Amino acid sequence: MCLYKKMNQAELEAELSKLNKEYIKFQNMQLNLNMSRGKPCPDQLELSSDMIEKINYSQLAKTDSGIDTRNYGELTGIPEAKKLFASILNVPDDMIIVGGNSSLNLMYNYVDMAMQFGLLGNTPWNKLDNVKFLCPVPGYDRHFAICELFNIEMINIEMTEDGPNMNQVKQLAESDPSVKGIWCVPKYSNPSGVTYSSDVVKQFAKLKPAAHDFRILWDNAYVIHHLSEDHDSLLNIFDECKKFNSENMVIEFCSTSKVTFPGAGISALAASKSNIKDIIKIMSKQTIGHDKINQLRHCIFFDSAEKLKKHMESHAKILKPKFDLVVNKLNDQIAPLNIGKWTNPKGGYFISFNSLEGCGKRIYELCKQAGVVLTNIGATFPYSQDPENSNIRIAPTFPSINELSKAMDVFCLCVKIASVEKFLSKTSGKTN
Ligand SMILES: Cc1ncc(COP(=O)(O)O)c(C=O)c1O
Repeated sequence: MCLYKKMNQAELEAELSKLNKEYIKFQNMQLNLNMSRGKPCPDQLELSSDMIEKINYSQLAKTDSGIDTRNYGELTGIPEAKKLFASILNVPDDMIIVGGNSSLNLMYNYVDMAMQFGLLGNTPWNKLDNVKFLCPVPGYDRHFAICELFNIEMINIEMTEDGPNMNQVKQLAESDPSVKGIWCVPKYSNPSGVTYSSDVVKQFAKLKPAAHDFRILWDNAYVIHHLSEDHDSLLNIFDECKKFNSENMVIEFCSTSKVTFPGAGISALAASKSNIKDIIKIMSKQTIGHDKINQLRHCIFFDSAEKLKKHMESHAKILKPKFDLVVNKLNDQIAPLNIGKWTNPKGGYFISFNSLEGCGKRIYELCKQAGVVLTNIGATFPYSQDPENSNIRIAPTFPSINELSKAMDVFCLCVKIASVEKFLSKTSGKTN
């Protein structure tokens, strides 16, 4: 394959015409494929079918300790569910609050609480002139949407291969009291797949923010979502914080959305004892308790750490070939042309692709017109503004292998077309 950047105008035009012919063939297939959202596929959902089919009413009505799950009570969750999440997050049971089916809901509520009532006796954020959050980019669009809704100013932080650029984080958090927090997806980040290095976790624990109520929102959504035995490991941030007496700075979140069912899983947060008390004060006004029957259902289904591990291995068996397919297609079709860069994560739900600068939106449009839906360009950045118009989040989990294979062929073709067009726009006007 000849590098586009070495082609003259006539060669580029010939290449574009060849690519456009291939493109029309795909358009004629009237495809309807979607690589936009990180959803488990139906086969993954089936892995948890026994949780509904094989656990009966009498098992679900009462916990071993005698709690009637059908009735009101147990605001912070049944002890069995706290134990389950404590073992996943490697923290003591009394640092856990179990929520409903969505950890995003817990995150939203926490930011809402900071805005309206303040954290640990500090001034509510909505009484301040300015509230800012640090946002490692690319990142998770729904985190950014929460900030945007509450009018919290977002500041982009560069993501490196080890996690957020900690020089930037330290400089901003330690000098400006209006910087109140940071969003982190520390393991298999959405979308880059990066797991924060031990050094980054230690630097977070050591942080001395100017704001007393600065919070690290540690969204550990992919904590056990490895793609194979060869997986990343993440330092326990609470263990590190203990050394610096900074445990109040961290609120950790996770859920079983991508373990059992996104629509009917259970979620949890982990926090210091002071933060747990602070959260309970507000939560006790919001609800008398979450769905304890579902909590118990999960605890019966995952009655040992071994069972949970095996279950996640079954997910990995379905997902690994899909991730491999995406990476292989990119290696075969895009790498020789040097017109993009991408991640090859060991877990999580996404592959992050960076096109040549300025090509993202054109690739999105071309894919759309050929029947392949991608995550909106810019979604991985605050205010939907990707300064380089190049980051594309590929979500390979939901489509079948056959669909994914076709979708990736379309995607690679669109990357080539957009890249040739970019080079052509540079060369047009020049003589060959
Ligand atoms: C980083 C991250 N956090 C949270 C969520 C949503 O979690 P939940 O289903 O528990 O609300 C997602 C879903 O894609 C995610 O990628």
